[in-house]
Amino acid sequence: MIKMWVFKVLIFFMIQCSNLVWAQNFYDEDPHLIELTPKNFDKVIHRTNYTSVVEFYAPWCGYCKQLKPVMKKVAKKLDGIVQVASVNCDLPKNKQLCAEHRIQGFPTLMVFRPPKIDMSKPHSQRVELRNHAGEVYKGERKMAPIIDFAVSRMKNYVKRLLNVNKLEEIFKKSTRPSMVLFSKKDKLSPVYKSIALDWLGVFNCFIIPNGKLDSLSSDDNLAKSYPNIYGFLQSIAHDQKNSEKSLLVVFDPHNDQYHVFQGDSLVKPQVSKFLTGSIGRNPQEGPGSKRQQFVDAVKSGKNKRVNHDEL
Ligand SMILES: *[C@@H]1O[C@H](CO)[C@@H](O)[C@H](O)[C@H]1NC(C)=O
Repeated sequence: MIKMWVFKVLIFFMIQCSNLVWAQNFYDEDPHLIELTPKNFDKVIHRTNYTSVVEFYAPWCGYCKQLKPVMKKVAKKLDGIVQVASVNCDLPKNKQLCAEHRIQGFPTLMVFRPPKIDMSKPHSQRVELRNHAGEVYKGERKMAPIIDFAVSRMKNYVKRLLNVNKLEEIFKKSTRPSMVLFSKKDKLSPVYKSIALDWLGVFNCFIIPNGKLDSLSSDDNLAKSYPNIYGFLQSIAHDQKNSEKSLLVVFDPHNDQYHVFQGDSLVKPQVSKFLTGSIGRNPQEGPGSKRQQFVDAVKSGKNKRVNHDEL
C-alpha cells in the first residue's frame, strides 16, 4: 500500500513537472504575438476584417524552436498590418482546436483570410460570411517569404483613381467621407491598406498617384459642385504632382470641406487620431478602437476585463 502511495505522488509530481517544462507558451511575453485558446480564437481570428497568420506549435519540437525567433520578427514587422498569433497544441485545452484545423505536424503556419465585403451595397444587403478561409503556408520558414505571403492575403479596399475629377462622381454617389492619399509611389502600401480596413464602412478610401494631379480640370462639375474642395486641389496640384512626399487628405463633400494630415509618414496611431478628429468618430479596428482594446487585453492575458459582448 505504501508503495502505491509513493508511486502516485511521484506520478503527480512528474506530471506537474512536465507541464512546467513542456507546456510553457513561447510567446506569452511577446508584445506582438497573441497566444490563442479556444476561448478567444474565434473572436481574434474570425471576427475581424484583418488577415491573420497563426503558428500551431508544440514547445518541445525542434523546428518550432527554430521558427520562434523568426515569428517574433515577423510579428513585429506585421504589427498593425496582419495579425500574428499562435496556438500551443501541447496544452490539453488547445488539443481540440488543433485537431479542428487538422494540424498534423509542428510547426504548421496557417493564414486566415477574411471574406471580401461589397461596400457598395447597403449594410442590410451584404452577405457576410462567418469565417475566414484558412490556408496552410507551405513556403520557406523565413521572415521575408512569410511576410510577403501574409501581406498578399490582405483584403484591399483602397481604390486607385487616375483622374482627380472623378472625385465629383464619387462624392455625389456616396454619403461617406473619403480619404485620399496623393501618393509618391504607384504601389499601394500595406499600412495604407490596413488603415482602410480600420475604417471600413466609415470612409471611402482612395489613392491617387501624385502625377495624376495633372488631370485636374476646371471645366467640370467638381469645380461647380464642390468649389471649396476644388480650390484646395488647385492649390496643391502644382507642388504635389512632382512631390516626393505623399499627402493624406480627408474630404467631407457634404460640407464641401477638407482636412489635411500633417504627419510626415503614415504612422497608424497618428493617422487614426487625425481621422477621428476630422469626422468625430472612432475606427472599427486598429488604434483607438474598442476592438484594439480587446486584442491588447488578450495579448497581455487580461481579456477578462473587457466586456466581450460590446464588440
Ligand atoms: C468588417 O467591416 C464591415 C464594414 O464596416 C463590418 O460591417 C463587419 O462587421 C466587419 N467584419 C467583422 C468580422 O468585423
